[in-house]
Amino acid sequence: MDVIKVEGGHPISGEVHVGGAKNSALKLMAATIMAPGVTTLTNVPNISDVHVMGKVLKRLGATIDVVDEHTLVIDTSSVDKWETPYELVAKMRASTAVLGPLLARFGRAVVAMPGGCNIGARKIDLHILGLEALGVDFQVTHGNIHATTPNGIIGNSVTLEFASVGATENLMMASVHAKGTTVIDNAAREPEIVDLANMLNEMGAKISGAGTPLIEIEGVGELHPVKHHVVGDRIEAGTFLVAGAIAGGPVHVTGFDPNHLGLVLKKFEAMGVGIEREEDGCTAWREGRLHSVDIQTLPFPGYPTDMQAQAMAMLSLADGQCIITENVFENRFMFAGEIARMGADIRIEGHHAIVRGVEGLSGAQVKSPELRGGASLVLAGLVADGETTVSNIFHIERGYEHFVHKLEGLGAHVRRETIPDDESVE
Ligand code: EPZ
Repeated sequence: MDVIKVEGGHPISGEVHVGGAKNSALKLMAATIMAPGVTTLTNVPNISDVHVMGKVLKRLGATIDVVDEHTLVIDTSSVDKWETPYELVAKMRASTAVLGPLLARFGRAVVAMPGGCNIGARKIDLHILGLEALGVDFQVTHGNIHATTPNGIIGNSVTLEFASVGATENLMMASVHAKGTTVIDNAAREPEIVDLANMLNEMGAKISGAGTPLIEIEGVGELHPVKHHVVGDRIEAGTFLVAGAIAGGPVHVTGFDPNHLGLVLKKFEAMGVGIEREEDGCTAWREGRLHSVDIQTLPFPGYPTDMQAQAMAMLSLADGQCIITENVFENRFMFAGEIARMGADIRIEGHHAIVRGVEGLSGAQVKSPELRGGASLVLAGLVADGETTVSNIFHIERGYEHFVHKLEGLGAHVRRETIPDDESVE
């Protein structure tokens, strides 16, 4: 099995450039279905989730040329299917992002019910409720969602019970050709939503309010293909800033808008991290021992759940006790159990993790529980005493392009290795 081995104690500093946001690129790819023709996406991250979304689009009849590592030329003129296969949705639940585009283009869709994943049930009831308000009929049989629009998609006002990123995106895409205007209230405000709305407007849609809780979509005719640059990945950026914050730095991260990490950077400064913001990046460094601060995850602009494990790694070494509250996913503390193997002192009580800072961590064999927890175990390994071996690294490679190479560029003694399965972590 493949593992990442990292030897702690080496100074970490230098420059790293982040790629396009995974959580935007996947939806932008799905949205190309809505503009028959050739759309070019630049700054697309070369990660396995993008490869899976490419397979989904090809299964629907699209063709995709990878022009260079980060440019996709997607021709959706011959898309003539509206059913996404279970095996691909099971591999990546984000493929449910084709639901809105297929409804917009064909007025129908068959999407496999996404399984849960290890951070939570990942239901899509809010997607379904919102789309039903737009006139979509759903039948769920044999694990598949059959969506039809007997009277077309009719604009309506929808208030989301929770500011769900995926539900906001599917509603926004499904209503682009609706009869009349759709208003989404309590919409998610993540920068990736804004990036998607920007591309749809470039294609000829009429969407206003993206980035605010109130998004208005005026139904229009056919969209036309465009060329669009994917917004920089704020979570990848935040992850590398933590490398500087935890292991000394300074680490200078470019390729993203630091305003997309507003509260994160404020929390890092409260922990005693040195932060210098620029237009297209940010630098982070640690002067002394980090301070314990409470954190609670919330939809944007709240502290992002995708940066929760990274903060837990930092706070595990801070000078006091603090509480991390996870309000977005119901099971996103698995990282705590793994970093505890390295000596962290964390007690889980429901949605709260009580973190008591320790003087130091020790390298150990640990298992990546999910994408962000896995990356955070490698970050913890940068400062642990001895060697840390992280297994299940397929999680990390779903969302971090050239993660080991980028860390090596910062001076980390880190390498990817294949070890015989009988030696692997149980
Ligand atoms: C997106 O997931 C991201 N994934 C997640 O990133 C991110 O953590 C999440 O947004 C929150 O920011 C992609 O964009 C591909 P939600 P999504 O709908 O859209 C519940 C990463 O590490 N919910 O905002 O699935 C849901 O179960 C990944 O890059 C319902 O109950 O997030 C969850 O508890 C992890 N019913 C909460 O809302 C619904 O119909 C947030 O989900 C929809 C969601």
